[in-house]
Amino acid sequence: MRGKDVRLEGVAITYPNGFTAVQPTDLRIEAGEFFSILGPSGCGKTTILRAVSGFVEPSAGRILIGDEDQRGKGPNARPTALIFQNLALFPLMPVWENVAFGLEARGLSRRARRDKAQELLELVALPEQADKKPGELSGGQRQRVAIARALAVEPAVLLLDEPLSALDLKLRQHMRAELRAIQQKTGVTFIYITHDQGEALTMSDRVAVMNKGVIEQVGSTDDIYSAPHSAFVASFVGEVNQFAGRIVESFGAMAQIETAHGRLLGRNPARLAKGTAAILFVRPEQVGFGARFNNCFDARLLRRDLEGAFVNYQIETSTGAHLSLHQTNTGAVPVTVGEPCHVGFDSGAGLLLPEGPVARTGAEVAAQ
Ligand SMILES: Nc1ncnc2c1ncn2[C@@H]1O[C@H](COP(=O)(O)OP(=O)(O)O)[C@@H](O)[C@H]1O
Ligand SMILES: [Mg+2]
Repeated sequence: MRGKDVRLEGVAITYPNGFTAVQPTDLRIEAGEFFSILGPSGCGKTTILRAVSGFVEPSAGRILIGDEDQRGKGPNARPTALIFQNLALFPLMPVWENVAFGLEARGLSRRARRDKAQELLELVALPEQADKKPGELSGGQRQRVAIARALAVEPAVLLLDEPLSALDLKLRQHMRAELRAIQQKTGVTFIYITHDQGEALTMSDRVAVMNKGVIEQVGSTDDIYSAPHSAFVASFVGEVNQFAGRIVESFGAMAQIETAHGRLLGRNPARLAKGTAAILFVRPEQVGFGARFNNCFDARLLRRDLEGAFVNYQIETSTGAHLSLHQTNTGAVPVTVGEPCHVGFDSGAGLLLPEGPVARTGAEVAAQ
């Protein structure tokens, strides 16, 4: 099997009722890449997958797979296969026949189909399960059967639409590693859709973050987390503390923002000018106890949650801002709940971005 690249050139998708689910989009997914599209429910992820797989035609622009324009080609004529959350395995057929289902139409003998199914079951780490019925397998195993079936027709591009969301947390985490391994073994291009940032960050080579029909940023997982370009990306990917305000002083790569919780200093990669409405973002793992920081608050510890290797602290500043602070668990208890303390962060840990819509998830904040 070999992956192909997928290009969207000016692709916009408007449904027959007039609703534009995907605004004009340019995107290039490399051959053999594990690429995720991450965004909240309703932002247009499934609509993009439907267009790539041929179930809907773009209203504008074109889709190329391995340089070939896909316009007018139905799902069966495209080098793609699709996997959904609710997989439809045939309950009365043994696992191997489920896997080989798409091969009968290609004229393969029963023997050849059985061999091919066995090969694929080995690939998805289910070599012993060929003769069982789907009902005798666990949820994660059934999901792997569905992946084997999708790979049986040797697609160049596998489209996965929130395939793990029906599984419980432990299984989901285990399946992340499985999916990544399958992708690397096959070299097939994976386009993986999810609203779960943990999934996108752990599995992907690159991620596109989408909101309201617009891809806001495409980048490596590190870029998306550490160098978000917009307030939405900063707040949707990972937990983050936020301080809204106005830029009062700008000097080169740094700037000062006036907020309801005082003046704070942060990085200003977008070179926002004095007077601009902005938000300063700081990750909980960048906030610390003590008064040594150049952004510092008088505060009080509200709660301490031990998560094993990590400890999460909820803090309230004297100005009423709520902050999350995450530390690795060293065994030390720096502050007791209810006691006054100082917390802060260095200016290099603060990121200033233009004011804009923020995601609902993430830390509850000190807006205004
Ligand atoms: N067939 C359709 N007709 C009209 N609107 C649709 C249709 N399918 C989806 N939508 C709308 O398009 C938007 C994007 O949907 P979808 O691509 O399914 O989002 P996601 O997969 O990110 O949750 C949503 O607002 C949804 O209600
Ligand atoms: Mg969807």
